[in-house]
Amino acid sequence: DDNLLKKITSHAKEYGFIFPSSEIYDGLAAAYDYGQNGVELKNNIKEYWWKAMVQMNENIVGIDAAIFMHPTTWKASGHVDAFNDPLIDNKDSKKRYRADVLIEEVVAKYEAKIAKEVEKAKKRFGDAFDEAQFLATNPNVLRSQTKIDEIEQRLGASMEKGDLADIKALIEELEIACPVSGSKNWTDVRQFNLMFSTELGSVAEGANKIYLRPETAQGIFVNYLNVQKTGRMKIPFGIAQIGKAFRNEIIARQFIFRMREFEQMEMQFFVKPGEEMTWYENWKAKRIAWHKALGLGEENYRFHDHINLAHYANAATDVQFNFPMGFKELEGIHSRTDFDLKAHEEHSGKKLQFFDPEENKSYVPYVIETSIGLDRMFLAIMSASYTEETLEDGSERTVLKIPAALAPYKVAVLPLVKKDGLPEKAREILSDLRFDFNCQYDEKDAIGKRYRRQDAIGTPFCVTVDYDTLEDNTVTIRDRDDLSQIRVSIDELKSKLKESCAL
Ligand code: GAP
Repeated sequence: DDNLLKKITSHAKEYGFIFPSSEIYDGLAAAYDYGQNGVELKNNIKEYWWKAMVQMNENIVGIDAAIFMHPTTWKASGHVDAFNDPLIDNKDSKKRYRADVLIEEVVAKYEAKIAKEVEKAKKRFGDAFDEAQFLATNPNVLRSQTKIDEIEQRLGASMEKGDLADIKALIEELEIACPVSGSKNWTDVRQFNLMFSTELGSVAEGANKIYLRPETAQGIFVNYLNVQKTGRMKIPFGIAQIGKAFRNEIIARQFIFRMREFEQMEMQFFVKPGEEMTWYENWKAKRIAWHKALGLGEENYRFHDHINLAHYANAATDVQFNFPMGFKELEGIHSRTDFDLKAHEEHSGKKLQFFDPEENKSYVPYVIETSIGLDRMFLAIMSASYTEETLEDGSERTVLKIPAALAPYKVAVLPLVKKDGLPEKAREILSDLRFDFNCQYDEKDAIGKRYRRQDAIGTPFCVTVDYDTLEDNTVTIRDRDDLSQIRVSIDELKSKLKESCAL
């Protein structure tokens, strides 16, 4: 729903979550700034991930590597030679496309056809409808599914081989069967490297070309031995990192879904060769459970296993989320074999191995990687939380039903009126709560208006201080989602809020 994405984009701007970068100069494509509320949500997402990955696992530790790395890193990792996207231009419309994305849009059209068939059948059969059975037997669905499989198979194979002519041929064939651009006049497909480069050092001649990292993972691989030795880590163990990555994306659109500067939360888990498949399955299960525990709706997640694998992987899947644009990649889980560590051994001449005391031998560990885009996670939360509601009294509200643990502010303290000692009492409560919770204080405008402001930034609880508070030391807690109001003693306030906002 494009409309929903537009609404989220403007809501995010209006309420201080996300601004276009350098907006006074009309912005910069595919770069965004997080505002006063956005940075709080973003920090909370990082914390939620870090706690689950590092704090809760004794065999996973974190690092924070530099964005600049020795240029040979990117030679070894394959990014200099192979981190390319296939680019194609339409001669009639003069529009530029990423060839693989264009083809994926055709796949999305077939997926939409299947969804439509399912909807129709649901209406026809009602309660008796068995979706799995229907998907496996309906001829229209099967025809679309076969087409999807064929397209993905062929796209994957030609991407893998770098067969640019076949990618073009596929686009031309698909434009006839299922037009996306409405035109057949294409240029050849050419490769475009996505890494940004710059120069290190001030003297132009002596300066070295270096890259802005396109993934955080390599900072972990090159530190494998440092961490293993100084942390006395034993296999299996993991290294986690949160940080910026940069890609010169050909088409950057859909708000913060595809940016040129973004943030990743990655974890590399080092295992004994031969055990990687068990760990791959294990991490798939753990990561999907982490997502579902947030409460954004289990039906909004699915795995998309890769049929065609990158040269370094022996298994790979995406965790897809149901974004306003449909199901799209949110996180990647990859079994990367020993490709990266071996490549760094070759290029650096240093051994990157583990001595296994049980086996009494050294080996280069295999790696399972989990890699999630922080900004995509942010967008997932915004899109699942954004709700427009008509209340019982007929009034309307826009509310962000962000999981309480991640909400920018946990509680707003509001004196009912701005006189008779109520603001003073409210500030007293505020100064006690703010040690434990990120709080808001608001005394301006009618109480209803103030509730709406908190709804719009997703504050799960409002604490209202009224005349009774001065008499009996109780306050009202208003719940953002069901609008219920309960009366509690000020002494219980902290424990009540803690219970509801726990990670
Ligand atoms: N180290 C593995 C790796 O980087 P990837 O699938 O290229 O794998 C991982 O990226 C995740 O990073 C993606 O699932 C996505 O969430 C996020 N990501 C990738 N490119 C992005 C972009 N241009 N803008 C925002 N997020 C992006």
